[in-house]
Amino acid sequence: MRSALSFFALSAFTVTVACNGGKTGSAPDSSATDSADTVDSGGFDTSTNGSCSTGSEWTDGNHGSSRMHPGRDCIDCHSGGEGPRFALAGTVQGAIHDPDDCNGIKDVIVHVTDGNGDVTDLTTNSAGNFFIEGGRLATPYTIAIEYGGHTREMAGEQTDGACASCHTVDGTQDAPGRIVVPD
Ligand code: HEC
Ligand code: HEC
Repeated sequence: MRSALSFFALSAFTVTVACNGGKTGSAPDSSATDSADTVDSGGFDTSTNGSCSTGSEWTDGNHGSSRMHPGRDCIDCHSGGEGPRFALAGTVQGAIHDPDDCNGIKDVIVHVTDGNGDVTDLTTNSAGNFFIEGGRLATPYTIAIEYGGHTREMAGEQTDGACASCHTVDGTQDAPGRIVVPD
């Protein structure tokens, strides 16, 4: 979803630039311009206006690391053939609207109860990232996260192991935004 959108924004943007440089075609391309503006400003605003609550960011691009790209959709990228396969992956961040690449919170325990009732306890790394390697997870799963003696649960059961597909900076599919530490 994210890469499809970014790709669309990128190609629409390219079309727009080519169009602005040329003399004709402004009418047929205006819809592409509108779409590009909508998609681009959404992504742009959220990543530049939202400040990173931990003040620490991933700056190493696509260099493979378990600490890479906190907050981004790990599985969306990794399903393209590069990097390990994850059945489930995400990031626990410091604030509900932390931007992409903003390092999250270390040593949070993520309890995953899969569709068979088996529980896997993950611990977030120094970027706040957590993951289960492999291609499969029995679904639906439920989540509880634990930190400093406090617990927070996701009320709903989910089937998509890509946490950041919903827990984006503003949240999609009714998610409130990022996965944050319990208070
Ligand atoms: C923009 C695409 C992209 C995103 C988003 C992304 N990765 Fe990666 N990841 C890669 C690529 C490409 C590699 C392989 C890089 C290489 O071989 O050097 C990789 C490799 C890795 C590796 C293997 C490192 C190693 O030592 O071999 C781990 C672990 C990893 N990623 C974890 C994550 C986690 C966790 C997330 C989400 C929080 C994530 N990645 C998000 C592209 C991405
Ligand atoms: C299909 C969308 C979707 C996916 C995928 C998803 N969530 Fe959620 N999540 C939600 C929604 C909607 C809520 C708010 C309602 C609720 O609690 O169910 C939520 C709430 C939460 C909460 C409690 C509220 C908060 O702000 O902390 C936690 C914790 C959480 N999710 C963790 C996860 C983890 C970990 C994953 C990945 C393993 C994940 N979620 C995947 C949609 C999703």
